[in-house]
Amino acid sequence: MQDILQRLEEMRDQAAIGGGQRRIEAQHAKGKLTARERLQILLDEGSFEEWDMFVEHRCIDFGMEQQKVSGDGVVTGHGTINGRLVFVFSQDFTVFGGSLSEAHAEKICKIMDKAIQVGAPVIGLNDSGGARIQEGVASLAGYAEVFQRNVLASGVVPQISMIMGPCAGGAVYSPAMTDYIFMVKDSSYMFVTGPDVVKTVTHETVTAEALGGAITHTTKSGVADLAFENDVEALLELRRFVDFLPASNREAPPWRPTDDPATREDLSLDTLVPPDATKPYDMKELIEKVVDDGDFFEIQPAYAGNIITGFGRMEGNTVGFVANQPMVLAGCLDIASSIKAARFVRFCDCFNIPIVTFVDVPGFLPGTSQEFNGIIKHGAKLLFAYAEATVPKVTVITRKAYGGAYDVMASKHLRGDVNYAWPTAEIAVMGPKGAVEIIFRGDIGDAEKIAARTEEYRQKFANPFVAASRGFIDDVIKPHGTRRRVCKALNMLRDKQLENPWKKHDNLPL
Ligand code: HXC
Repeated sequence: MQDILQRLEEMRDQAAIGGGQRRIEAQHAKGKLTARERLQILLDEGSFEEWDMFVEHRCIDFGMEQQKVSGDGVVTGHGTINGRLVFVFSQDFTVFGGSLSEAHAEKICKIMDKAIQVGAPVIGLNDSGGARIQEGVASLAGYAEVFQRNVLASGVVPQISMIMGPCAGGAVYSPAMTDYIFMVKDSSYMFVTGPDVVKTVTHETVTAEALGGAITHTTKSGVADLAFENDVEALLELRRFVDFLPASNREAPPWRPTDDPATREDLSLDTLVPPDATKPYDMKELIEKVVDDGDFFEIQPAYAGNIITGFGRMEGNTVGFVANQPMVLAGCLDIASSIKAARFVRFCDCFNIPIVTFVDVPGFLPGTSQEFNGIIKHGAKLLFAYAEATVPKVTVITRKAYGGAYDVMASKHLRGDVNYAWPTAEIAVMGPKGAVEIIFRGDIGDAEKIAARTEEYRQKFANPFVAASRGFIDDVIKPHGTRRRVCKALNMLRDKQLENPWKKHDNLPL
């Protein structure tokens, strides 16, 4: 028996060094941690249960039968993050560049299947040269098996992709179908075709970093949600992020106790909105002053800054925040912000996370660029997402809520549960100046008349009371009491039940 145990230990040690010391050093020289080192940071100490450590590939071409490494380039299993179960795979770049073989894919599929059955998140740490070239179509089949599971798991368990190395070709489509993509700056990239193919086909010269690095995807394409400085920061922030999420669509998000009283008032909010309606202010300040302990985890902070999305807690319970940001493009809705917020709202709705919406929106961004690129269809995504969401929805209009954008931003008419407005709210078809220039077009030459009409329109409509008189606004609240009122509303809604009519699935305008 002693012999067998010793042999087992030796086999484990062998598997643990993956592609060997030389390649581990090369990985470190690039500023990257190894697959196992990453899991040590991500998971609670001692919680990792590894599966399939002894799996090997079955390829016999190109001399591959002589080159077998236990585990075949991916470390898989389950562990805990702050005591809560998660399933993980961590690709090992030291073994055939972390490339995906049939056996490697089977290992990933095994943990995904179990995660769906038991209801726990799947976290993928991606660091791979893509399809295992020696295996040909068997490797492509492996990818497709993973893709299929990504789709089946979508909306059932949270799926998070951390890109920590290369991710190219069709391989990008597994992360693309997960809920969140995080990247590490300077060491990760994602693209469908790399710089060499780009050069051949379009004659463009571009580096891998510029084509698909973390900055590109978190600022230009919107493919990725967050960019981190290095592996350690990325993994520690991932731990913090997972703490906001429920384990599955069958569970509520975790409750984290707080000493921050629900009744806390913040008098500075009474002067947040400037007297001049054309002046911007920072909507993030409102979120940070309302949320428990000022702890806000923002998603896509560097993309479509005219809308803010992210998670915080109210009385210890996770809440998804969506807020127009007057500091960027006056907070208007455009294609990018509509898509960004729609995806966020749908994630919250999948996973039982109430949505709090702060509104200051002058409307949709005008222009040929927006129209030619389909603002109608893309703006409809956000409208659709809010309208189908059945989770608790609490809305606070701080200033402008004009036109169609008023309807879109979790209005009463889209089953907003509790809709509040600050006294500074202006709920109207459009701003007073624009309105008067249309309905009194004949008076445009007469500045005095126009000024009087504008003032009349402002008095009549640039306030929350017309909407409140119709019951579209449940109450006009004092800004300093926003946290207290929103907490009360969320408490009241805790056991909300609402179902949409049965359907196979909806037909969201894509
Ligand atoms: C097998 C691979 C591999 C692959 C890398 N390696 N990619 N082995 N299949 N796809 C091996 C290398 O042979 C090398 O082995 C080790 O991994 C490290 O690779 P290096 O090239 O030395 O590392 P580096 O210089 O850092 O470059 C990394 C890289 C490059 C940029 C990823 O290796 C590369 O371009 N690989 C090929 C990428 C690719 O074309 N993949 C297929 C994409 S198509 P040794 O023994 O020397 O350590 C695809 C389709 C998916 O993925 C379709 C899904 C639908």
